[in-house]
Amino acid sequence: MTQINIKNKNFELFISNNEISSIVHSMAKNINEAGIKDPLFIAILNGSFLFAADIMREITIPNATISFVKLSSYSGTQTTGKVNELIGLNTEIKDRNIIILEDIIDTGITLEKIIKSFEKKNVADIKVATLLFKPTAYTKDIPIDFIGRSISDDFVIGYGLDYDEIGRNLPHIYKLKN
Ligand code: IMP
Ligand code: MG
Repeated sequence: MTQINIKNKNFELFISNNEISSIVHSMAKNINEAGIKDPLFIAILNGSFLFAADIMREITIPNATISFVKLSSYSGTQTTGKVNELIGLNTEIKDRNIIILEDIIDTGITLEKIIKSFEKKNVADIKVATLLFKPTAYTKDIPIDFIGRSISDDFVIGYGLDYDEIGRNLPHIYKLKN
């Protein structure tokens, strides 16, 4: 399908599942080769559930573990600027080398909030891996260590990303048509 309609909005095919696989593969390779010891991956739900599942199968670092947290700042197609609290962290993160797994980094508000909350818990190191990044929308100066693909400031769905919770299960990534 090259075009889909959700709640009267049209989306066009943007990144196919094959392209996603090769992006995820090269990100995994970069992470595997970065020399990060006993990493604790923390996937940010809901958006990163497919990305996390796919990339973790290609992680070969000894003693890699994964945990999941939930935090959301989006309603509809526009950021609300408000970020909810981080919930669900049931792992000891003190002294751990954290690798955050995000589906997409837009303004960076969510990322900053997550990092601040981890820093309070005396982690050893925090690295950030995001499948998609919108450089022109980014307002923070936190470095992003692993970027799958930088995209223009368009609204995208699929492969975990939603429009009002719809579209997360799509195997391809679609972009809103203007
Ligand atoms: P930020 O706080 O503005 O960086 O937004 C980050 C969060 O907003 C992501 O984790 C997504 O849940 C959501 N988001 C940002 N851009 C998009 C998009 O294009 N489509 C769907 N969700 C998005
Ligand atoms: Mg998200």
